Amino acid sequence: MPKEIQKQVEELREKIREHDYKYYVLAEPSIGDQEYDFLMKELERLERENPGLITPDSPTQRVGKDLTKDFKPVTHKVSMLSLANTYSEEELFDFDRRVREGLPDGEIIEYVVEPKIDGASVSLNYVNGYLKTAATRGDGTVGEEITANVKTIKSVPLKLKNYKSPEFELNDFEVRGEIFMKVADFHKLNEEREKAGDKLFANPRNSSAGTLKLQDPKLVAKRPLNIFVYFLISVEEEFNSQYDNLLMLKKLGFNVNPEFKLCKNINEVLKACRGLEQKRDSLEYEIDGAVIKVNSIRQQKILGSIAKSPRWAVAFKFKAKQAITKLNKITWQVSRTGTLTPVAELEPVLLSGSTISRATLHNFDEIKRKDIREGDSVVLEKGGDVIPKIVSVVLNERKKNSRPVKAPDKCPVCSSPLFKPEEEVAYYCENTECPAQIKGRLEHFASRGAMDIEGLGEALINLFVEKKLLNTYADIYELKNRRQELISIERLGEKSVDNLLASIEESKKQPFAKVLFAIGIRYVGAGAAKKLADHFQSIDKLISAGEEEISSIHEIGPSISRSVKKFFSEDENVKIIQRLKKYGIIFTAQKKVVKENFFTNKSFVLTGTLAKFSREEAGEKIMLLGGKVSSSVSKKTDYVVAGENAGSKLNKAGSLGVKILSEEEFLKLLGDNSY
Ligand code: IVH
Repeated sequence: MPKEIQKQVEELREKIREHDYKYYVLAEPSIGDQEYDFLMKELERLERENPGLITPDSPTQRVGKDLTKDFKPVTHKVSMLSLANTYSEEELFDFDRRVREGLPDGEIIEYVVEPKIDGASVSLNYVNGYLKTAATRGDGTVGEEITANVKTIKSVPLKLKNYKSPEFELNDFEVRGEIFMKVADFHKLNEEREKAGDKLFANPRNSSAGTLKLQDPKLVAKRPLNIFVYFLISVEEEFNSQYDNLLMLKKLGFNVNPEFKLCKNINEVLKACRGLEQKRDSLEYEIDGAVIKVNSIRQQKILGSIAKSPRWAVAFKFKAKQAITKLNKITWQVSRTGTLTPVAELEPVLLSGSTISRATLHNFDEIKRKDIREGDSVVLEKGGDVIPKIVSVVLNERKKNSRPVKAPDKCPVCSSPLFKPEEEVAYYCENTECPAQIKGRLEHFASRGAMDIEGLGEALINLFVEKKLLNTYADIYELKNRRQELISIERLGEKSVDNLLASIEESKKQPFAKVLFAIGIRYVGAGAAKKLADHFQSIDKLISAGEEEISSIHEIGPSISRSVKKFFSEDENVKIIQRLKKYGIIFTAQKKVVKENFFTNKSFVLTGTLAKFSREEAGEKIMLLGGKVSSSVSKKTDYVVAGENAGSKLNKAGSLGVKILSEEEFLKLLGDNSY
């Protein structure tokens, strides 16, 4: 290989990197698009002619060709903690007090205030100056590898220049930050999706997180993702402060949000937080608060962390954004389980970037409590979550002739009489043949988290139900025998029918836990379905289990177990399951074979607060290793794992002579028996 070409290639890469940095990090481009494209094309040509010269850090390699089949688990070397939230000045002062109490007297404490970027957090690992892996946060201990997707983000450097200097060496280190989408880019993306008939993203955060989990890096590259980094972790280097780290990250070529401030005391912190809150609407990206970090790394180490958040940092959440609009009408929606939910039909209003025309009112009690009436002016609020809610009524704008809303007296869809259990606030339509319920069950069955039947969405389901092609979800698997009939339906071409039938066939591979979720037992969400599937391993065992056995499973309560029993006591449901079995749907868990270990068949109870993970996550680890987790201590319990502030369960274990493990002992056992 001629040395000259190699040199030429390296120079071109260096130029392109520099321009990427100027354009995507500094937002100060120094050449035009045409000139940039020319450099890129030239590099592509040279690499095509000399494939031996291609290296993974080349700017041409940002967009990989291979599809990601599954995102591999990555164990974070240092856990990715989350932050405790504060909502008021008092809570912020409390935080400062706790910090001072946690440090020796007389220490000078400084804080860094940064915007809290509303995106998806990511951890980047650089080895010898090259981006090696990128991972999602996951449960904080184990995330998923998304390197191919992150590489497409131009503000993420693939190669670092100054990672070594006489003062420091960063041969193997981690950078953490937030991947986000600018609000304007998000709107543009949604407009394109609307034109293409694709589902819209609810907000920039969801669109960033969703994009990072796409399997095709080529599609990711088309989405306008960005990064802000805020954390530098290195085992080999001792750093002084968060402030210095941010400056260092900037020097290394990363995109650091420019709004960070060093504060000498909590009053300055408060001022900085308020300053950010005021600036919020003028920023190009969404922030939902400020993050306050103790500046000194030495002090951070003294303070340490509890449960899943550090004692040295806290989030200050901004007030939710509000808007006032008119409530035109209250309608009632019927869910797949027959629950009636009141929905406020609103005069469309813009609230934090999206137009709101409907809001859920939860239930009739809520309407009464807030005395919400048709024709009222109402205050709408959108907090951290996506769903807007009505917080109050502007009473002095209420019309004289307004009347309180009446409770519903019949199903708005099928006119059947309603039922209201005494202990519940909801009204139910009890007609399981109600078209709204039929459609709702089918939609749920086909949805992403359930059987994941691509193409079988709301519109098609409505059409098929009206044409009597579908009634129960078992009918979905008969559709292949009616191919001609489907093709003759207006709007449905041969190709789309075949695609649909193929995804229906594909859905037969969904694991038992997803199937159990899909069949739509009331109160059995995706999490509960997973627990039931893990415990019982087959639908037949679940059907024959008693209510008590079901509710003895960790975090499965009596309302779930009652509902499971009720579901299987109905003949119609059992018949549908029999049909699904005949079509080849999976009704047994394919348990990963785990070799016999300490946890095999032992029964555990978790109590108190664990520092490394939540009880739920600890429970999952035990179950993965073949152990069982139960919520109450009995003679059958083998071990009680006791975290901080463990209470009565610990006493009971003591009196029954059950062995008690500290979190440390438990962690050691997990480590020794990893799968
Ligand atoms: S620091 C231990 N800094 O907020 C420190 N987080 O609930 C944890 N976030 O998971 C993170 N902007 O996704 C930090 N400037 C910032 C941030 C930030 C956004 C997110 C991050 C984290 C969550 C904390």
